[in-house]
Amino acid sequence: MTAEQRVQSVDEGKPAGVWSEFFEAVKPLVSAATRIVHEERLGTKTTMRVGGAARIYAEPASVADLQVLLREARAGGGEVLMLGRGSNVIVPDEGVDGLVVSLAHQAWSSFEPREDGRVAVGAGLRLKNLCGLAAKAGLVGFEFLEGIPGNVGGALRMNAGAMGAWMFDVVEEVQLMTRAGEVRTLTKAAMHVGYRHCEELHQAIALGALLRPATRSDAETVKRQMDAYSRKRHESQPREPSAGCIFRNPPGNSAGRLIDESGLKGARVGDAEVSPTHANFIVNRGSATAADVIALVRRVRARVREVKGVDLEPEVLLFGKEWKDVL
Ligand code: EPU
Repeated sequence: MTAEQRVQSVDEGKPAGVWSEFFEAVKPLVSAATRIVHEERLGTKTTMRVGGAARIYAEPASVADLQVLLREARAGGGEVLMLGRGSNVIVPDEGVDGLVVSLAHQAWSSFEPREDGRVAVGAGLRLKNLCGLAAKAGLVGFEFLEGIPGNVGGALRMNAGAMGAWMFDVVEEVQLMTRAGEVRTLTKAAMHVGYRHCEELHQAIALGALLRPATRSDAETVKRQMDAYSRKRHESQPREPSAGCIFRNPPGNSAGRLIDESGLKGARVGDAEVSPTHANFIVNRGSATAADVIALVRRVRARVREVKGVDLEPEVLLFGKEWKDVL
């Protein structure tokens, strides 16, 4: 399906009955441990806390169940979207006309250190837990992930970064599932990664990764570095609900500084606000809608273009849609 067709299918939607049929067909094919429901509200599953429901939402409990979900959705021509910890997405107010899959089941949260210090992790493992377990095991090199409110799968998909490092700095291999349900292991060298980008995971679904720490130390030392990053983050980034940095940093520049210098801190549309703490965060002051956030993104881009002559590109994903269609 091309991006254009995808947007069209989301906008037009499928008749409700099609998803009911899909639900009835799939339910008996997956194990009882797999959660699958109709009309699951997604806003509370995201850090921005806006947006509507998924027609069908599933938390597969195994590789086999994920394969069934992909196969059946494919057979019915329905779109499948992966949701990580929801820390880098804006869910549209109308929701998502598709099957939303989350690896939230504990089966995907493994953390298995090996003799040589490398550690196999599941895509559903929260970065917060990865950091805690790595510190306990005295593994150095994962500290920068402290405070990124995502899971391993999302961090791989976005090549999440902070404090001058990014996810693929510590990745050796990624285990993924293609949309056809085939499980593969790719070495980092075989993947195309860049700033907030991993080509292979635009389509394929990350199942887990093999990570390599920089070195080993004692738990106290690792914890101290994480605490230092945590303090730095709390001093410079807002606490209110947000999707993290909303725009990519243009090469050699800082989106936060450009927005700040364009006089936009505190600018509001409804309850969406350009954070007075860090201008590259749009925060939800309580009851913002996705439409408020999108309108504010538009306003910020227009103003920064006018004042600075720079076109900012969103970093966060618009779930099930393309930014270019709404900006
Ligand atoms: N700045 C301002 N005004 C602001 C914000 C920032 O003048 O309102 C200036 C700062 O003073 C600094 C420069 O801009 O001189 C860069 O700011 P900062 O150190 O906060 O880093 P950033 O480039 O804005 C990046 C990542 C963050 C990550 C931090 C910390 C992007 C888009 N952002 O922010 O990642 O947490 O570094 O390492 O790459 C995210 O991806 O969601 C995210 C939050």
